[in-house]
Amino acid sequence: MPNVTLAAGALIGRDSEKATLVRLITEVAAGRGSSLLIEGEPGIGKSSLVRGALAETAGVGCQVFWGAGDELGQALPLLPLLEGLRVREPSANPRRNTIVRLLRGEVAADRGVDVAAALAEQLLALIAEQCAARPMILVIDDLQWADQASVTLWGRLARPARLRLRAGARRAAGGGTARRGFRRAGPGGRPASRRDRADPGR
Ligand SMILES: Nc1ncnc2c1ncn2[C@@H]1O[C@H](COP(=O)(O)OP(=O)(O)OP(=O)(O)O)[C@@H](O)[C@H]1O
Ligand SMILES: [Mg+2]
Repeated sequence: MPNVTLAAGALIGRDSEKATLVRLITEVAAGRGSSLLIEGEPGIGKSSLVRGALAETAGVGCQVFWGAGDELGQALPLLPLLEGLRVREPSANPRRNTIVRLLRGEVAADRGVDVAAALAEQLLALIAEQCAARPMILVIDDLQWADQASVTLWGRLARPARLRLRAGARRAAGGGTARRGFRRAGPGGRPASRRDRADPGR
């Protein structure tokens, strides 16, 4: 993941949003998981908000995984999750090794198995195992650029609450790219409706 070096409190005008994230992360550390979709115009401070909250909760005991959608990586299914969960290299962990072998075409390649579907199931199992071993935070940044398989898998993980960042102290640059992307990224991969815009604290 990118460096989490932003000093706690360095974000201007985001105290309440950061407090929401800090509370959710602290709850994860105490065994109560949840998910949150942060949306807002390009450059408004989505990534910075998450980095700030993670920096402030660095001591609570959660393992943090950070992956990101990439416009140029969309042809590679599940890349944000594979990179975020750091499962590209062989490992002593059997689940991780299975995923690496699937990626390399070393298993089930000639049996007509849908490799992307098998990978998604293995990633879900890996996430469940990681959560059972230790509280974890999985950040998928720039979800609007993620491939469809990643968006679908993300939607299967949990039904997220939503936190909409609005320009307050800061003016946003850019247009509606993020909004369009996040509409695509509604729960289960379906477009988000107005009804989905829930209180992030629910
Ligand atoms: N609340 C804030 N206080 C101070 N600086 C901020 C704040 N929010 C964002 N910034 C600064 O604005 C810039 C853009 O922020 P950031 O990358 O987090 O936005 P973003 O919403 O994630 O953008 P994108 O949509 O491109 O991913 C960064 O330089 C960041 O440090
Ligand atoms: Mg960002």
